[in-house]
Amino acid sequence: MKRVIVTGSAGLIGSEAARHYDGLGWQVVGVDNNMRRTFFGGDGDTTWQRELLERDCRAYRHAAIDIRDRAAVDALVAEIRPEAVIHCAAQPSHDLAARIPFDDFEVNALGTLNLLEATRRNAPEASFVFMSTNKVYGDGPNRVALTENDSRYDFDDPAYANGIDESFGIDQSKHSLFGASKVAADVMVQEYGRYFGMRTVCFRGGCLTGAGHSGAQLHGYLSYIFKAAAEDRPYTVFGYKGKQVRDQIHSRDVIGAFDAFLAAPRAGAVYNLGGGKANSVSILETIARIRDLTGHELAWTLDETNRVGDHIVYYTDLARFRRDYPEWRLTMSLDAIFEEFARVAFSSRSAA
Ligand SMILES: NC(=O)c1ccc[n+]([C@@H]2O[C@H](COP(=O)([O-])OP(=O)(O)OC[C@H]3O[C@@H](n4cnc5c(N)ncnc54)[C@H](O)[C@@H]3O)[C@@H](O)[C@H]2O)c1
Repeated sequence: MKRVIVTGSAGLIGSEAARHYDGLGWQVVGVDNNMRRTFFGGDGDTTWQRELLERDCRAYRHAAIDIRDRAAVDALVAEIRPEAVIHCAAQPSHDLAARIPFDDFEVNALGTLNLLEATRRNAPEASFVFMSTNKVYGDGPNRVALTENDSRYDFDDPAYANGIDESFGIDQSKHSLFGASKVAADVMVQEYGRYFGMRTVCFRGGCLTGAGHSGAQLHGYLSYIFKAAAEDRPYTVFGYKGKQVRDQIHSRDVIGAFDAFLAAPRAGAVYNLGGGKANSVSILETIARIRDLTGHELAWTLDETNRVGDHIVYYTDLARFRRDYPEWRLTMSLDAIFEEFARVAFSSRSAA
């Protein structure tokens, strides 16, 4: 039986991965200490997801260890000797990082190093999949010329007609402390591929989404905005007139990319991974879509101060990943993603 260690297994991407590989008959060991609750309070609590995994999966084993605990991480990898490590545990918020710089760096950078080194020592043949972020590009994408229409900004430079690719520079821009700690981890993951020849990949995610998210105000915007709409919570849009654009990729399609990589791993690979231009949406368009789908008018206000270093427009150029893994497909369109959220977020409302 193949074995995989999934970190952040009660989070959005980790839980989707755990369920998927369990379904394929792998032994899945999930690492998650519910630190998302410490970061974001009750909205971020992932206990429900852990309980579902333990209830529904065939042979899921949970290890509530902290990836900052080097000895515990090493002991776990030595015990399991996995064929794959899928590393999704993180402090994931751009904004929160400035308030907790040591926790942010220790989880994102040192935690990743703990996992890389434990894998090199105990399972050097394993594939190592790391969820990185488009925030490694800092606010560099904001320097691309833009156009503006009634509902969104867009890239005006034909060089970026299909989005941001992996050749975009990652230094000399403002990242937020979160972006900087993820850059540290991203470069370290690449280095274990290039220096030690390990099969590592960094997936630099756009907006990763899906109903498995424990959306909170500071992270998981689509999940949170639906939660706010369904529970009549007031919603604040930060800056850019609500015309900021993000590309949405469903967690299921992220796992499809992991599958493709695990079937044909490379050393030191780097890919941007998102929904691409077709799955891009602005906040104003999100609010209009929620209205059209659910008939519900979100109570929102605009705070004109944008989040520090926040992208104005970001969507992913998927060309490199599609070239290397042509069998991979995006299966969840923007419509399908919104319909899933409308169903899940509003089901308890209609039952009430
Ligand atoms: N969701 C997005 O829009 C997005 C976008 C780009 C990149 N990413 C990256 O993808 C990865 C997964 O994101 P997600 O949305 O699933 O995040 P998530 O917060 O839903 O899941 C992360 C999980 O890691 C756990 N965790 C945090 N610190 C831990 C620690 N020290 N030890 C053990 N477990 C810990 C949390 O409890 C949480 O359940 C992260 O690396 C994130 O930076 C996410």
